[in-house]
Amino acid sequence: MCGIIGYIGSNECTGFLIDGLKKMEYRGYDSSGICVKNGSLTILKREGKISELEKSMNSSIKGNIGIAHTRWATHGEPNEKNSHPHMSTDGKIAIVHNGIIENYNSIKELLIEEGYKFVSETDSEVLAHLIDKCYNGDLEDAVTKALDNVEGTFGLAVIHEDEKKIVAARRGSPLILGVGENEMIIASDAVPIVSLTKKVVYLDDNEIAVIDENSYKVKRLTGESVDREVQEIKWNIGEIEKKGYKHFMHKEIHEQPTAMENTIRGHINEGKIKLSVDIDVEKLERVVISACGTSWHSALIAKYYIEDIVDMPVEVDYASEFRYRNTNLRENDLFVVITQSGETADTLAALRKAKSSGCKTIGLVNVVGSTIAREVDSGIYLHAGPEIGVASTKAFLCQITGLLLLALYINQEKGGTNDPKLIEELEQIPSKIDEILKHEKDIIKIAEKLTYCRNFLYLGRGLNFPVALEGALKLKEISYIHAEGYPAAEMKHGPIALIDNEMPVVFIATEGKILDKVISNMEEVKARKGRVITITDSRDNKVKKLSEDILYIPKTLENLTPFLSSIPLQLLAYHIADMKGLNVDKPRNLAKSVTVE
Ligand code: M6R
Repeated sequence: MCGIIGYIGSNECTGFLIDGLKKMEYRGYDSSGICVKNGSLTILKREGKISELEKSMNSSIKGNIGIAHTRWATHGEPNEKNSHPHMSTDGKIAIVHNGIIENYNSIKELLIEEGYKFVSETDSEVLAHLIDKCYNGDLEDAVTKALDNVEGTFGLAVIHEDEKKIVAARRGSPLILGVGENEMIIASDAVPIVSLTKKVVYLDDNEIAVIDENSYKVKRLTGESVDREVQEIKWNIGEIEKKGYKHFMHKEIHEQPTAMENTIRGHINEGKIKLSVDIDVEKLERVVISACGTSWHSALIAKYYIEDIVDMPVEVDYASEFRYRNTNLRENDLFVVITQSGETADTLAALRKAKSSGCKTIGLVNVVGSTIAREVDSGIYLHAGPEIGVASTKAFLCQITGLLLLALYINQEKGGTNDPKLIEELEQIPSKIDEILKHEKDIIKIAEKLTYCRNFLYLGRGLNFPVALEGALKLKEISYIHAEGYPAAEMKHGPIALIDNEMPVVFIATEGKILDKVISNMEEVKARKGRVITITDSRDNKVKKLSEDILYIPKTLENLTPFLSSIPLQLLAYHIADMKGLNVDKPRNLAKSVTVE
C-alpha cells in the first residue's frame, strides 16, 4: 500500500522518480506526487493515476535530490491535498510516508496548539510538522526524535532544503536501499531500483538510513549503528516489462509453465524431495498455516495435501484472524506462512505471533529479501519472478507447487514412501498448462457471453473447493462482478436460492471420487434453469449434457487437478474484465502489497 521512492546522486532525477512510481503503481494508484530539491524544494501533486502527475510535469521541476509517492488512501479521501509529499509550513521539509500513524490525532492536537497549520486530512502530515518541530540543523536527529513519539507503521523518506541527504526510516512498511555509482535510491520495493542498480540493502524495522550521493549509513532508531551487507538482486529488468501483452496479468498467466518449472527446479532429484527447511519431523505433531487472499486459498489446498500425504492434522487460518485469536500454538507445531509479496501486514503479524510461541516457522515467499522471507526460520522461495498484476496468478500456482513439495518432503523425512507417479506427473504439469493456454480462444468465447452478468457462483469439491474460491476472487477483484465460491454440496444450504436463468454457475468437475456428487449438484442447478459452465477433464456425457459451456483441461492425477483447473478460471476473469474495458492490472481500491492492517 503506497509506494515511496527517493533519489540522490549526480543525475537529474525527475524522470527516474516518475518512472519508479509507475513501476510501483500497483502498490497504490489514487494520487501521486513528487518533490525535488534544486536550491529550494519544488513540489507537484495530482489526483488519479501517475500519468496525471507526469502530464503536469514541467521544466521548472528538476533536481538531483528528490522523493515521490504513489498513494493508496487510508486517512482522507484521494485528492490532491491529501496526496504526498507533505511539507512543513515553511516549505523546507518534505516527507513521503507509507504506513499508518496510529496516534496522529493526539500529535496533531498538540501541534495545532503550538500553532502548526494542517492542510490535509492525512495521518502522514503530522510527520512533516513533527520533524519540523524537532529540527535543529540536523535532519537525521530531527527524524529520530520525531519518530520516538510516533506509534504505528512507517516507511518514510525525508528531505530538507538545507541538507544534501535523504533520511529514511522503517517500522512495519518495507524499505530498500539501492546502492549505485554516485547515486543512491530508497524505495518501498526493488522493482524501481533495478533499472539503476542490482545492489541493495534491506532495512529492518526500527532502522534509520541516511544516504548521500556516495554513501549510506544505517542505524537503529535507538542509536546503535548497523553493519548491513549489500545484496544482489537476481532478476532482470526485462521481467518487469509487459513484453507485448496488453496487461501484466495476461503475461503472468502465460508465464506459469516457466514459473512452475522454476519453483520445482533443484527440489526433485531422482524422486527425492530436496528442501532446505528446518523442520524437526520427529517431533512434528501439527501444521498451522496462515495467509491472506489468494495465498490463503493456497493454504486450503495445502491442508488437503498434508492431511492426505502425511496424515497429519492441519489448521488453516486467515492471518488477520490468527493474529488476534488465542491460537494455542505448541512447540511441536510447524507454522507456515504463504505470501507472494512477503510484506502483507497481517501475515507478518501472524508470523511474529507464532515465533513468540516458540514453534518453528516456514515461509513460502516469492519476493526475495522481503520482510517475511527474512523473518521466517527457513523457507521455500517460489521463484515465480516479479508479479506485477494486482490479481495474483502465477504466485498461486507456484505456491501450491511449493506446498505440495513441502507435504512430500515431510512425508519422506518421516520415513514415508511418496507415490513416484505423483512426483513424475507434477513435473509434467507445466506442459499441460501450456496445452490449456493454447485453447485460450475457447475461453474468450465464453467470456464474451458472460461479460455483462451481474453475479456468478463458483462450485467445486475437495481440492477444487479452494479453486472455486480463487476463481470467484479473481473475477470479483478485476471485473467488479459479484462472485461467490462454495463447496458444491453447500449450495443447497443457501446459495441455491440465488439461481435463476441469468446466473452463471461455474463448476469445477474433475475426475475422482466425488465427480458423481458434483454431477448431482450440476443437475440441481440445471433443474432451476441456472447456466452451467464447466471446467472438467471428464468425458462423461452427463457432464457435457448439463453444461451450457464446457472447457476441457488435460487429464492428470486427482491430487494435481487444482494446477490445471485454476488456469481457465484466471483466463475467464481476465477476459471478462478486459472486455469490460477495466484496468485489469490496477483494479479500483486494491493494492498489490497490503502493508496496513
Ligand atoms: O502478498 P500476499 O500473498 O501476502 O498477498 C495476499 C493478498 O493480499 C493477495 O493474494 C490478494 O488477495 C490478491 N489481490 C489476490 O489476487
